[in-house]
Amino acid sequence: MSSSPSRSGVFKAGSDKRLEAFGQSISFDHRLYQQDIRGSIAHARMLSKQNLITADEFQQIEKTLREIEGEIQRGEMEFRFELEDIHMHIESRLIERLGDVGRKLHTARSRNDQVNTDVRLWVRDAIDRVDKLLVQLQKAFVGRCEQDIDVILPAYTHLQRAQPVLAPHYWLAYVEKYARDRSRLADCRRRVNVCGLGAAACAGTSLPIDRKATADELGFENVARNSIDVSSDRDFVLETAFVLAMIAEHLSGWAEEWILWSTVEFNFIKLPHAFCTGSSIMPQKVNPDTLELTRGKSARVLGNLQTLMVLVKGLPLAYNRDLQEDKPPMFDSFDTVEACLELAIPIVEQSTLQRDSIASRLDQGYLDATALMEHLIRRGMPQRSAHHLVGTLVGMAQEAKIPLSDLTDEQLRKADPSLDGSVRGVLGVEKAVQAYQSFGSSNPDRVREQVQYWRQQLQ
Ligand code: ARG
Repeated sequence: MSSSPSRSGVFKAGSDKRLEAFGQSISFDHRLYQQDIRGSIAHARMLSKQNLITADEFQQIEKTLREIEGEIQRGEMEFRFELEDIHMHIESRLIERLGDVGRKLHTARSRNDQVNTDVRLWVRDAIDRVDKLLVQLQKAFVGRCEQDIDVILPAYTHLQRAQPVLAPHYWLAYVEKYARDRSRLADCRRRVNVCGLGAAACAGTSLPIDRKATADELGFENVARNSIDVSSDRDFVLETAFVLAMIAEHLSGWAEEWILWSTVEFNFIKLPHAFCTGSSIMPQKVNPDTLELTRGKSARVLGNLQTLMVLVKGLPLAYNRDLQEDKPPMFDSFDTVEACLELAIPIVEQSTLQRDSIASRLDQGYLDATALMEHLIRRGMPQRSAHHLVGTLVGMAQEAKIPLSDLTDEQLRKADPSLDGSVRGVLGVEKAVQAYQSFGSSNPDRVREQVQYWRQQLQ
C-alpha cells in the first residue's frame, strides 16, 4: 500500500499496488513532459500576476521547473507507478524541492484541464512536423516531374489498361492528395489551438484567474468557452487521428502501386536498393519491404482511429478516467505516419522509371481506343455509335493480335464504310496524349502548367 499526492485526507487506506500498475500512464505520457512544464510555467506566471502567489514564489517555481525539465531530459528522473502520470511526477518533484511553495502550483488547476492543455500543445507541434514532412513528400513528387516529363504510362481503371498519361500526371495526383491532407491538418489545428487551462476539474474556479493570459503565453488562439466541455473533450485527438489515417491510406495506396510496378510483371519502376531487402534462399530477390511495411503499418493507424472513436463513445460529461487511454493510440498514429513519411520521401526521390520496358508495351491494351472514339465524335458520329464501332475494331485487332493502327484500310471499311486510313492519324499513345484538351487532363501543356503551379505553391 502507498499514498499518491492525489489522495486527500478522505482516504483511510493507501492504494493497492495492483491499481497503481493498472492505472499508471507514466509509461507513455512521460512524452508530455516539456508541454507539462511549459503549461505549468504559464499557469504559475498567471497566478503571480493575479496575486494568487507572490512574484518570488513564481520565480522559484519557474526556475525549479526548468531544472526538473533538464533532469527528465537527461534521464535522471525515476518514474514510479505510484505517481501515476507525468503531471504528478513533475509536481511531486517540485514539492520535494520547494515544499509549500511547490504545493501552490496546483492552485485553480486540475489534472483534467492540465492534461487537455498538454495534449493540445503536443498535438499542435506534431501536426506541424507532419505538415513539414508532407511538404517534403510533395516536393519529391514535383521534383521528379521534369525528369519524367516525356514518359508515357498507362493509366488504369479496375487495374485494366485504360488511357495513356504522362508520368508527371501520376506524380501530381499524389501531390493533390497530400495537399488535401495538409488542408485537413490545418483545419484540425485551428480546433487544437484552443486553451482549456483554467477550466479546472469541470466547473471552473472561484479564484480570480486570467485564462486569456495563459492562453496567450502558450500561443493558443482562443480560450475554450465551457469548462465541462474542456474536461471531456477529445474531439481534437479524434479528428487528428482521422487525418493521420487518411494520410496512411494515401501512403498505403501509393505503396501498393509501386510494389506492383516493381514486379517483373509490370517492370515500370526500380526501387532504391537501400530501401529493399534480399532473400536468404533466393539470391535474385530484391523485396520492396519498406513499401510493404508502409502498406502494413497503415492498419495500425486505422486501428488507432477505431480505438479512439470507441473510447469516447458513451462517456457522460465530464472527465472520465477512460480518457487516459487516448494517448497510446494517438502517439502511435503520429509515430507511424511520421516514420512512413520519412522513408517515402527518399523512395520517391531515388526510384527510377524503367523507360524501355514501359515503352515497349505501350501498344498493348488498346490505350488509344478512346482517342479514336473521340476522333469519330469530332467527325459527327454520335458517342454511342462511335463507342460501339471502336469496340468492334478492338475486337478485330485483338483477334489478329495487332494494335489498332495495324488494321488495314479494308478491315476499317468493313467495320464501317465511312472509315479509311486517315483515322490512323489519331492512333498511338503519343497522339492520344497530345489530343487531350480539358483542364486537369494529361495534355502535355496542361501537365506542364500543373507542374509550374505546384512548383510555385511549394516554394
Ligand atoms: N493520468 C490521468 C490522465 O492522463 C490524469 C487525469 C486524472 N484526473 C483525474 N480526475 N483522476 O487522464
